[in-house]
Amino acid sequence: MGIIFHEEEKQFHLYNDDISYVIGICPDGEVGHLYYGKRIHERQIVKAYQTRGVRALCCNRKEDENYTKEMAQLEYPAFGNGDFRTPAYEILQENGSRVTDLVYVSHRIYAGKKGIPGLPASYVEKDSDATTLEIVCEDAVAGIRVTLFYTIWEQRPVVCRHARVENMGKEMLDVRRALSLCLDLPDAEYTWMQFQGAWARERYPMERDLSAGITEIESMRGHSSANVNPFVIIKRKDTNETQGEAMGFHLVYSGNFVARAQADTYGKLRFVMGIHPQWFSWNLAAGEAFDTPEAILSYSASGLNNLSQSIHGFLNDHMVRSPYKNKPRPILLNNWEATEMNFDEEKILNIARKGKEAGVELFVLDDGWFGARNDDYAGLGDWFVNANKLPNGIYGLSKKINDMGLQFGLWIEPEMVNEDSELYRAHPDWVLGAPNRPRTLGRHQMVLDYSKPEVVDCIYKQLYDVISNASIHYIKWDMNRSITECYSLGVAPEEQGKVYHKYILGVYSLYERLMKAFPQILFESCASGGARFDAGMLYYAPQAWCSDDTDGHERVKIQYGTSYGYPIASIGAHVSAAPNQQTGRFITIGDRANIACFGTFGYELDLNEISDEEFAEVQKQIQFMKEYREVFQYGKLYRLQSPFAKDTAAWMVVSQDQATALVGLYRGCKIPNVGIELLRLQGLDADAVYTVDGSGEFYGDYLMASGIPTIDVSGDWFHGNEDFSTKLFVIRKK
Ligand code: DGJ
Repeated sequence: MGIIFHEEEKQFHLYNDDISYVIGICPDGEVGHLYYGKRIHERQIVKAYQTRGVRALCCNRKEDENYTKEMAQLEYPAFGNGDFRTPAYEILQENGSRVTDLVYVSHRIYAGKKGIPGLPASYVEKDSDATTLEIVCEDAVAGIRVTLFYTIWEQRPVVCRHARVENMGKEMLDVRRALSLCLDLPDAEYTWMQFQGAWARERYPMERDLSAGITEIESMRGHSSANVNPFVIIKRKDTNETQGEAMGFHLVYSGNFVARAQADTYGKLRFVMGIHPQWFSWNLAAGEAFDTPEAILSYSASGLNNLSQSIHGFLNDHMVRSPYKNKPRPILLNNWEATEMNFDEEKILNIARKGKEAGVELFVLDDGWFGARNDDYAGLGDWFVNANKLPNGIYGLSKKINDMGLQFGLWIEPEMVNEDSELYRAHPDWVLGAPNRPRTLGRHQMVLDYSKPEVVDCIYKQLYDVISNASIHYIKWDMNRSITECYSLGVAPEEQGKVYHKYILGVYSLYERLMKAFPQILFESCASGGARFDAGMLYYAPQAWCSDDTDGHERVKIQYGTSYGYPIASIGAHVSAAPNQQTGRFITIGDRANIACFGTFGYELDLNEISDEEFAEVQKQIQFMKEYREVFQYGKLYRLQSPFAKDTAAWMVVSQDQATALVGLYRGCKIPNVGIELLRLQGLDADAVYTVDGSGEFYGDYLMASGIPTIDVSGDWFHGNEDFSTKLFVIRKK
């Protein structure tokens, strides 16, 4: 397994048990793409797909009239020299030319994988986990060197890519586009899946046909966004959950991005993904380099579910860095929906006390504890305690919470500032905004200019003081508005095209510093719910608040859609009060918990306010979750029935040893007079005998081939008499 270089044919074959990725050198020296997909023999020399133009409109060089870039499959193509498709990069030179020609110069193959300076990236635990190929290409005229990085993983159907652009010449270069990957496929008979939505309905799957024209998604919001996620699946048209070819593409990045598929008129498909080139311009002086973010390519020959399982394992093992990596996540209680900003110490302690009685492990104090933060017009930027609400400080409160036997966690929103804050009054030029123009506000707040190191420093120092003077185990890092008027005050005009990216680098650097200073902390990322749920964030924060929509019924859709690209252990999911704050819908506390348990699990309400019966149920839910959370969070996920396709949705998790499975079944609106449907399970040991909810004896093959009834005629469970009723089955090996 690993990477073979066929010297004579100049072909690189990256392979493991599941996949092959073959790269060649084109007749003109450019790096070409030969194959990506199911594993083929590594000794196979792959023939170049059509590269010869058949009509005069195809352009070629006179040294080789049989070769045209227009027909070639390329690894990191430019525009302007015969390839008319979307390019991977574009570099403006001092003489005004954008024409470039990168040709292969050398390569290096080594065990392991390096990090990318300043950026999140997948990592190896040991060098034998992966093999890396670096291909160096140069344009001698403009003095450009581009290194293409490819890492193939030993045990995963995954290849990671990124590129480094270096200025080897004497003149300035202006990098106008540097994407993370280009993948040219020989045909375009594919369907594209994107995960889109908005606040409170994040990551709904949506399909588009790819066979003609351009298909594109983007975020220009300065963050990866709730509107569309930087994760895309390209699959064969007949691929479904259990069969068919599917390719996943994650951008390990939390800022502006683009993903585009372009079917050309020869029936081929180009896919590119990376930092959005709009408003991007990165000048490189002699000797300087620019690294793109990483893209993760995952592959399945047997359906979407298998693709998701590979992705889950990969992100959990090679992206998440945290003391909580592959560990059960603490069951938490968050005060936001219970109090919003209207609290004092006693109110908080009351909520926490009840949480302790219920069995929760971590209490999280949300927005409103700092500066003059009594509403969302003031306080952001002032990370010192609001002594009117908390006279004993964060230290005093955290100690009292710890003394109850609970861990303590804190909310922050470190990238933002209110006009009404000490920070803004002292540093009005620390905010993003165009000179002499009004700023667009979002939730009455402005965006701090994280492209300036002094801003990041100041916030770090403030947070360091709070955290180091209290006992804090968890931080919820929120971000509640998109970026507008992206301009860095007092900075040279030619540096302005860097600001969006430098902003994100600033965010990453603050995470890095806090993680280093406080390695015990579990970070949860959040952006008005799930508006920055991406692989880049997972590198720092192993879990992300999935959505502000905690309505049980809506959450089935949101969590189901999220599960295509992200592991269950990353999905922040809580039981909140009913009727729900976002939808006004009433769903029972049991039904609300039956969806939240397919996530990190916690509560987002005042448990003092619920009835004694409900409280007793909460205590049982927590006990149940403590017993089964490892299976929920790290078991293999099987999506059984999509809430986007049917009224009743279902999914299940199976422990790695196949001894325990948990099946969640979720009904939408009641339908009268339905027949008995059987839900076929997956992932069980076919020859083992299982019980369902502690009774019966069922072979695994029977439960998978025949199934369990989704409605009980006797009516004592999943009765179907209520809208939005749910049922959780516990399947255990005897
Ligand atoms: C948005 C988050 O998604 C909520 O959970 C909460 O933390 C609020 N911000 C607080 O302002």
